[in-house]
Amino acid sequence: MYEKHQEGKVTFLRPPLQKVPSTSMPVFYNPESELNRDLTILALQVFLSQHKKTDVRVCTPLAGTGVRAIRIAKEVPEIQQVVAGDANPIAVELIDKNRVLNDVSDLVEVHHSGANQLLTQHTSSQKRFDVIDIDPFGTPRDFFHSAISSLKPHAILCLTATDMPVLVGIRRRTCIKRYAAVPMKTEYAHELALRILLGCIVREAAARNIGLTPLLSFSIDHYVRLYCETMEGDENAWTSLSKLGFIVHCEECGFRSIKQGLIPFHSHCPNCEKRVKKQAGPLWIDQIASRGFIENLIKQIPNHSFGTKRRISSLLDTLLGEVEGPPTYFNLHQLADKLDIPVPPFRLVIDELHKNGEFASRTHFSPHAIRTTTDEKQLCQILLKLIEEV
Ligand SMILES: C[S@@+](CC[C@H](N)C(=O)[O-])C[C@H]1O[C@@H](n2cnc3c(N)ncnc32)[C@H](O)[C@@H]1O
Ligand SMILES: [Zn+2]
Repeated sequence: MYEKHQEGKVTFLRPPLQKVPSTSMPVFYNPESELNRDLTILALQVFLSQHKKTDVRVCTPLAGTGVRAIRIAKEVPEIQQVVAGDANPIAVELIDKNRVLNDVSDLVEVHHSGANQLLTQHTSSQKRFDVIDIDPFGTPRDFFHSAISSLKPHAILCLTATDMPVLVGIRRRTCIKRYAAVPMKTEYAHELALRILLGCIVREAAARNIGLTPLLSFSIDHYVRLYCETMEGDENAWTSLSKLGFIVHCEECGFRSIKQGLIPFHSHCPNCEKRVKKQAGPLWIDQIASRGFIENLIKQIPNHSFGTKRRISSLLDTLLGEVEGPPTYFNLHQLADKLDIPVPPFRLVIDELHKNGEFASRTHFSPHAIRTTTDEKQLCQILLKLIEEV
């Protein structure tokens, strides 16, 4: 019933592949998530060695086939124990088979358990984790409280969310109920999705006096992924909370204002003075990743033979280029359509913006967009000028 497959340094049994992986599989497995797992290995190696962590305890409470847990045990040197759990008894049997197959039964502990139950059994100080990886299908929201409660004082929390229709605002009411944040359907909705998720976990952590710093976060394929460093203490929690706010979008002129704080407001557009009706938040308005962390990840890539190495390189290079840019980006194809002109080469647009002293970069969120400090009006003028010159 299972097939043998190689990923990273492990050979594991997985269910036969389906065109679209679904919850009807005996054990859920998505080959598309290989990049997610490769990058997890890289991020943990960098984080744990940077902080000289030893005897590291990891929890993967939604383990599926166990491939992620077993790869962490085999490929990350500082590991003392990986606690893997799944609510599906067939998955638990498979994790057991896979840990034996990879000779890591001493490192990987397997539990047939609900994720919240497993995590809350590990809240005492000796049992807490240095790393928790929440990788569900759908929303990770249900596990925020128990994950935050079972982290050591300085740890790394990894989260995947695949409930994109909710986070991008197609299912607005669900987003408000689930994440206590208002989404917004805009050309940069995927970035808002990631920022809403970050904002929500930051508020959950702050309630427990824990501050979060995103070391790396991105949107790719069908999901968003976060890697947050956690630091205990009132000051840290307060500092993280101070990085929440609202993004206000003027539908008339495309102007975006970023407002810090937890109180929503309605105002007039500072650009065209029309009343602004659209805003999203509370959400994370600070950097979504750390330049130093991305640079360290990039440095380590040549030491690996990951299956998704080229894609990871390209993702990290793009992220590095945009990490210090302002929130939100502009879809050049949409703007060019509005102006009824062809899209000028992106390189020329970015060079022109740089000449004007603006921040400008590509963005990993969309191949059709650029991130820049300029506003829509200026950007349109640049597009028109470049098309005249070409
Ligand atoms: C997306 S899959 C995990 C994939 C795995 N992390 C990987 O990298 O291959 C989600 C898993 O969570 C399990 N699951 C769903 N709800 C759960 C819950 N409340 N507690 C524990 N496991 C759960 C499912 O049985 C499934 O195996
Ligand atoms: Zn306006």
